[in-house]
Amino acid sequence: MRPDAVHRVLDAELAAARERRGGEPPRVLDVGGGSGVWAVPLAVAGCAVTVVEPSPNALATLHRRAAEAGVLDRVTAVQGDADALDADASADLVLGHGLLEVVDDVKVALAALARAAAPGGAVSVLVANRFAAVLHRAIAGRLVDARRLLDDGAGQPAGVREQGQRRFDVAGLEAAVRAVGLEVELLQGHGVVSDLVPGAVLEGNPGAAEALAELELAAASLSPLRDVAARLHVLARRPA
Ligand SMILES: C[S@@+](CC[C@H](N)C(=O)[O-])C[C@H]1O[C@@H](n2cnc3c(N)ncnc32)[C@H](O)[C@@H]1O
Repeated sequence: MRPDAVHRVLDAELAAARERRGGEPPRVLDVGGGSGVWAVPLAVAGCAVTVVEPSPNALATLHRRAAEAGVLDRVTAVQGDADALDADASADLVLGHGLLEVVDDVKVALAALARAAAPGGAVSVLVANRFAAVLHRAIAGRLVDARRLLDDGAGQPAGVREQGQRRFDVAGLEAAVRAVGLEVELLQGHGVVSDLVPGAVLEGNPGAAEALAELELAAASLSPLRDVAARLHVLARRPA
C-alpha cells in the first residue's frame, strides 16, 4: 500500500533531516504519543524517537510494541505532559498528533511543541476536523447534534470542544499554529473520503484499495475537499 498524505510529508521531512545530519538518525519527539502508533514505525524507519505521554497504560503498550518491533533501543519513553514539556530545542521533527483535541490549553501546548523543535526543525500537528464531524453526524441522522456542533464552532479559532474533545477547522488551526511563531508550510486533509466509502466496495473490488489511496492523495491538498477531511494536518517550521 502506498503511503498516505501525512506519511509522505513526514518521510520527506525525515529524509531531509537525515541528510542534514550526515546519515545520523533523525531525532523525533512525539508528544502525546500514546501507545506508539506513530513512534514505533518511525523508530523502525531508523529514527531516534522520544515519546512524552502522561498515561502509564499507554506507555506500557508502547514498551511492548517497541520490544516486539525490535526497536527498544531507539525509543525513549518519558511520562509527562505537553503543558509542562521541558524538552531542549533539538528535535528535527516534533509530533503533536491527536494531542490538541485533549490538552487544557492549545496555545500553551503548541508553544511547547514549537520550543522543542530545533531551529529550522519541523512540527507536525494532526487534529480532528469540526466540519467532518458535522457531516458524519448528519449522515448518521444525528441532525440536532450536527447543527449544534456547527453553531458552537462559529468564531472560535482555538477549536470547538464537545464532550471533552476539541475539533478544529482550517482557518482556526492555521491561526493557532502561526500564533506561536511557527511558519505553516503545508496544511492538508487526512481521510477525505476513506470513512465514507462502504467496506463492501473495498472487499469486492480488486484494485479498489489502491484507487481509494490515490483518490485520497489527490484530494488531500485540494480545497474544498481538504477542508472536510476527517483530520487536518499541518507541517510547520520553527524559523532557523
Ligand atoms: C488520541 S491519543 C493520540 C495518540 C497518538 N499521538 C496517535 O496519534 O495515535 C491522545 C494522547 O494524548 C495523551 N494526552 C492527553 N493529555 C495530554 C497532555 N496534556 N500532554 C501530553 N499528552 C496528553 C493521551 O494520554 C493520549 O495518549
